[in-house]
Amino acid sequence: MTDAGRHPNITLHTLAEVSEVGGYVGNFDVEIVKRAKYVDEIACTSCGDCAVACPVVFPDEFNEGLGSRKAIHIPFPQAVPSSYLVNMDECMGRGCSKCMDACDKNCIDFNMSDDVIREKAGTIVVATGLEPYDPRAMDEYGYTRFENVVTSVEFERLVNAGGPTRGELVRPKDRALPKEIGFVQCVGSRSRRRGGEHCSNICCMNTIKSTLILKEHYPDMDIKVFYMDIRAFGKGFEDLYNRSRKLGVKYLRGLPGSVEELPDGSLRVAVENMATARVEFHDLGMLVLALGLNPAQGTQQLQEKLGLQLTPDGFYLEAHPKLLPVDAATRGVFYAGCAEGPKDIKESVTQGTAAASRAVRLMHKGEISSEPITAMVVPDLCNACGLCAKVCPYNAITVDVKKKTPAIVNTAACAGCGTCGAECRADAIVLNHFTDDQINTQTDAMLETRPDEKIVVFACNWCSYAGADFAGVSRLQYPPNVRLIRTMCSGRVDEKFIWRAFENGAPVVLVSGCHIGDCHYIDANKWTVKRVERIHKKMAKKGIRPERLQLSWISAAEGVRFAKVMEEMETLRRTVTSEEIQQTMV
Ligand code: FES
Repeated sequence: MTDAGRHPNITLHTLAEVSEVGGYVGNFDVEIVKRAKYVDEIACTSCGDCAVACPVVFPDEFNEGLGSRKAIHIPFPQAVPSSYLVNMDECMGRGCSKCMDACDKNCIDFNMSDDVIREKAGTIVVATGLEPYDPRAMDEYGYTRFENVVTSVEFERLVNAGGPTRGELVRPKDRALPKEIGFVQCVGSRSRRRGGEHCSNICCMNTIKSTLILKEHYPDMDIKVFYMDIRAFGKGFEDLYNRSRKLGVKYLRGLPGSVEELPDGSLRVAVENMATARVEFHDLGMLVLALGLNPAQGTQQLQEKLGLQLTPDGFYLEAHPKLLPVDAATRGVFYAGCAEGPKDIKESVTQGTAAASRAVRLMHKGEISSEPITAMVVPDLCNACGLCAKVCPYNAITVDVKKKTPAIVNTAACAGCGTCGAECRADAIVLNHFTDDQINTQTDAMLETRPDEKIVVFACNWCSYAGADFAGVSRLQYPPNVRLIRTMCSGRVDEKFIWRAFENGAPVVLVSGCHIGDCHYIDANKWTVKRVERIHKKMAKKGIRPERLQLSWISAAEGVRFAKVMEEMETLRRTVTSEEIQQTMV
C-alpha cells in the first residue's frame, strides 16, 4: 500500500466512492465523490497532538470496538496516506476546536467539503473485498448475550500485537486469560437458512492458524474446534492441520446446538458429537465464532454502474470460470481479490496480479481488436425508437430518441449477443455472422423435407450448444430428428425465427440457453424469457397450442439434461397433429 501511495503513476483516492461510471473499454469516465477529511492530508505529519487533545472518545472500528479512538483519528495504523481525519458525526465542531489549537501546522479545516472528481480510465479493476457475516442472526451461539463469545475477527484483533490488548489474549468479560477455548466453524456459511450457501474458503485454515498461535503462546490451553468438515485443501494446509492436532487441539465433528453462561462467565456448550453420536457438554472460558464471508457492502450498486453480473450468493461473476477467471463480462473490467469470491491471501495476490497483468496487456497495446461478431445498424431502416439501447446489456448503443437520429453501435463495447437485433422491430440491426438471412436459410434448409418429423432447437453457443456437444461426446442417446441452430446467445433468437420455423411446418420449436444468471452476456437471456412469453400469448390468441414453443435452460455440463429435454421434445412432437401443423404453415 505504501508503495502504491508513493508510485508516480498511481493516484490514490482514499475515503472516496465511485458515484458514476460511463464509457467503455479504453474510455471509461469515472465520477468519484471524495469525502472531506477536514485535515490537510499533505501537511499532516501524523504527530497525533490533535488526537491527544480531542475529548470525544468512540469505539474503534478497526479493533472491532474492543478499543477506543478519538473523533479525530487515523483509521488504522497502516493507512495510506498516514494522515488524520475528523468524523464530523462525532466531532463537537467549532464549539470545541481543541484539535485545531493543538495542531502546530494548521492542518485542520472545518470548512472542507466533499469533492467530486472525474477520472478517465482505460481499464477498471474491481477490488471491493468482502464483509464478515453478522453473527447476531444466529443467536443460539449467544453472541449478543455473552461477552465471552467473540467473532474470529475480534479474536484476530485480540491476539494481534498491534491490537487493543497488545496481543494478550483476555476474556472481554473479566480480562482473564481463558484456560479453555472453543472455535465454532461455518458460522453463517454453508447454510441455506442463514448467511450464504457458499463455503467461506478461509475459515478452516484461519482457525487452524489461530490454534497454532495459541499453542505457541499458551501450551497448556485446552483448545476445541467444533466443525462440519475441515477443508485443508491448499499447499501445505494438511500439514498445518496435522500439526495442530499433534499439539493437542481437539477437533470435534458437530456444531453446538446451544450455549449457556455459567456464573463465573464461562460458557457451557452443548454439541452432538457425530463421531460418538452423543450429546456432550463442554465448559469453555471463551468461544470464537469462525464467521462466514459475504460480498462487500455496495457490491450491487457498483454492479449496476458497471454493468456486471453477480453470482446467486452476491459476489461478482467472472466472464468464464476457466478461461477468463479475472475478466468481467464488460470488456476492460477485471476482478481482484474477494470481489469475485472468498479467498485467502495467496489467492488474492495471485488474482490481483493476474488482473493487473490483464489490464496492462490491454493498455500497453494502445488499441483493442474487437471480435467480428458485433451488431451493425442500417441507418436507413432505423426509426430511432431506442429499444435496442434499452435491451443492450453493455450500454453499447446510443440513440437520440428526441432528435430521431439513427442508433450508433460502439463496436468496442458491443459483445455480440444479438439481443438488439432480436428486439428491433424495424430490422435495422444486423448481427455480423449471425444475420437474419443466415439463420432463416438454416431453418428453411432443415425443414425442406418432412418438416413434421423435425425438432427445431435454437441453442446458445456457450451453454446449450456446448451441452449438446457434451451429450454427443458422452455417447448419450437422443432423438436423431433434433436440428440445432446455433446463436451466440438465446437473446439473439428473434420472434421472426420462431414463426419462420412454424410456417415451414415445424411441429415444435425449442429455444435454449444458459441458466438465468449464467448468461455470457450479463443478463441478455432475461429478454429471451420476455420474448417467449410474448410469443406464447400471441399463440394462445391465434388458437395455437403454446406448448409447441418451449424454453429450456441447459448448461455446457448438462449433457444428460440435454438428452432428456430432447426426449421430452420428441414426446411433445408426437402429440402435434397434422391439423395443428397446417394451422401455423403458410
Ligand atoms: Fe447463453 Fe446468453 S449466452 S443464453
